[in-house]
Amino acid sequence: MSDRLAGKVAVVVGAGQTPGDTIGNGRATSILFAREGAHVIAVDRRRDAAEETVTMIRAEGFEAEANDADATDEAAVRDLVDATVADHGRIDVLHNNVGIGAGDSVAEAIEMDAWDRILAVNLKSAVLPCKHVLPVMRGQGDGSIVNVSSLAAVAASPLVAYKASKAALNAFTQSLAVTHARDGIRVNAILPGLMDTPMAIEGIASALGVDRDELRAQRDAMVPLRHKMGTAWDVAHAALFLASDEARFVTGVLLPVDGGQSARVG
Ligand SMILES: NC(=O)c1ccc[n+]([C@@H]2O[C@H](COP(=O)([O-])OP(=O)(O)OC[C@H]3O[C@@H](n4cnc5c(N)ncnc54)[C@H](O)[C@@H]3O)[C@@H](O)[C@H]2O)c1
Repeated sequence: MSDRLAGKVAVVVGAGQTPGDTIGNGRATSILFAREGAHVIAVDRRRDAAEETVTMIRAEGFEAEANDADATDEAAVRDLVDATVADHGRIDVLHNNVGIGAGDSVAEAIEMDAWDRILAVNLKSAVLPCKHVLPVMRGQGDGSIVNVSSLAAVAASPLVAYKASKAALNAFTQSLAVTHARDGIRVNAILPGLMDTPMAIEGIASALGVDRDELRAQRDAMVPLRHKMGTAWDVAHAALFLASDEARFVTGVLLPVDGGQSARVG
């Protein structure tokens, strides 16, 4: 590897993963950041999931530590940021990966509990870490924030809560990018398309009661590029670029990582 994040402290929120037979976006990003020289704080409300990520990173000989903050709990997020600054003196990269969709539905059928939960988790889990990390980055005069949105924010989707939450996350990203440009803080979003991750495959297969291989085949067929879904490593590599100094002139970008799906109109 090439030390593209050498010396940087990176907080990855949602660094564990949904159990399954492939790797999740947050875990792959944490591992890649560590391979590239970052000290990774792997945050997940499920301590076992965060610790599993850290174990994988340490097994490769790299640096990481686990934290079990719930990213929707302001006191927990404040403690996480304070502890990171106390221990490491800075936060160079904030990667907000948390996102849920369970219980989502079409407008006529959505339960308001599900609406509230999806909107709250998908937005607060990015807003709160940003709220508490921004003053740290402003003090440094430098920092990179990456929010994991979704292609669903801009593509057709009947599931209203997830789409609305990710569209709002895109707007939040652009607002922060413009507001904090003068502070040297870059804020970008990644819009993954159809990815072969446990959150998507195991999650959707069990929610809809469909066979996993059938679901994989259906999703593969919808992707223009090689008719194959992406993997969590594709998201991780996009995140690595945005987090690194190579992207020093890139802010306010909503980057699709989608095998060309967003380019196909009609
Ligand atoms: N997989 C896809 O096809 C796809 C497509 C588009 C966008 N995305 C986005 O990718 C992101 C997730 O990808 P993933 O593969 O890492 O998912 P994942 O479910 O495997 O991992 C997310 C992690 O976040 C943790 N988490 C959930 N709520 C939390 C909270 N309040 N505080 C702290 N941690 C919390 C979970 O415990 C889990 O370990 C989401 O934002 C999702 O919307 C995925």
